[in-house]
Amino acid sequence: MIQEYDYENHWNKAYQNNMVEKLGWFEDDPIASIDLIEKCNLSKDALIFNAGAGATTLITLLLKKGYSNILVNDISSLALDKLKSSINNNSNVRFIVDDLTNPTTSLNIKNVDLWHDRAVLHFFTSKDQQLSYFNLLKKIVRKGGYVIFSEFGIDGAKKCCGLDIVNYSEKMLQNRLGEEFILLESFNHQYNHPSNGNTRKYIYTLFKRKTCLY
Ligand SMILES: C[S@@+](CC[C@H](N)C(=O)[O-])C[C@H]1O[C@@H](n2cnc3c(N)ncnc32)[C@H](O)[C@@H]1O
Repeated sequence: MIQEYDYENHWNKAYQNNMVEKLGWFEDDPIASIDLIEKCNLSKDALIFNAGAGATTLITLLLKKGYSNILVNDISSLALDKLKSSINNNSNVRFIVDDLTNPTTSLNIKNVDLWHDRAVLHFFTSKDQQLSYFNLLKKIVRKGGYVIFSEFGIDGAKKCCGLDIVNYSEKMLQNRLGEEFILLESFNHQYNHPSNGNTRKYIYTLFKRKTCLY
C-alpha cells in the first residue's frame, strides 16, 4: 500500500518547532498583498478568505484597516492557534482548519468577495490536488469577486519548507482559473526575510471573476 505523505503533521511541526518570526516566509509588513487588496475597493464587511493563512501578520493589518469579516484557513491547527493569539481572539476573524486539496467544511462557505493565497498553491504538485483547490475556489468565490495569488515565480525557488513546489507564471494562473476570471494586475516581487537574509522571487496576480459569462 502506498503511504500518503502526512502534510498536516509536516506543517504542524514547522509551526511547533519555530517561532513565527523565524519561519522562512514570515513578513512583518505584507505590503504587496495589502496594496492589491486595497485596489479591490471592497467594503469593510466584505468576506475575505485567506487560504493557508498560517500565522500571517496580514490579518492584524486587515483588522487595523477596519475589515470585519475575515475567514482564515489552514491545514495546521497549530498555525491558526498562533494566529488567534496574535490577534487576541478578535471576533471579526473566523478560523477553519481544512485541507484545501481535500476540502470538507470549506465547501459550505458561500459568496467570498476576496480569495487571498500567499505561498500556498505552489505546494500542490499533483493534478488532483490542484483540481480540488480550484474547484473549491470556483465554488465559493462569488461572481464579481476577486482572487489574489502570490506564488514562487518561474525563476523562483524550487523548494520551500523541505517540499517541492510548482513555479508559476501569470499565464499558468490564468489557465487554471479559466476565461471567467480577468487578470487585473500582475507583478514580480522579491521577498526579503526581515532578519535571516532569505530572499525569494514571487509573482503576484490579481484576478476578478466576471459578473456574467459573456
Ligand atoms: C509557506 S506558508 C505561507 C503562510 C501564509 N500564507 C503566509 O504568507 O505567511 C504555507 C502555508 O500553507 C499551509 N498549507 C499547506 N498545505 C495546505 C493545505 N493542503 N490546506 C490548507 N493549508 C495548507 C501551511 O500550513 C502553511 O501555513
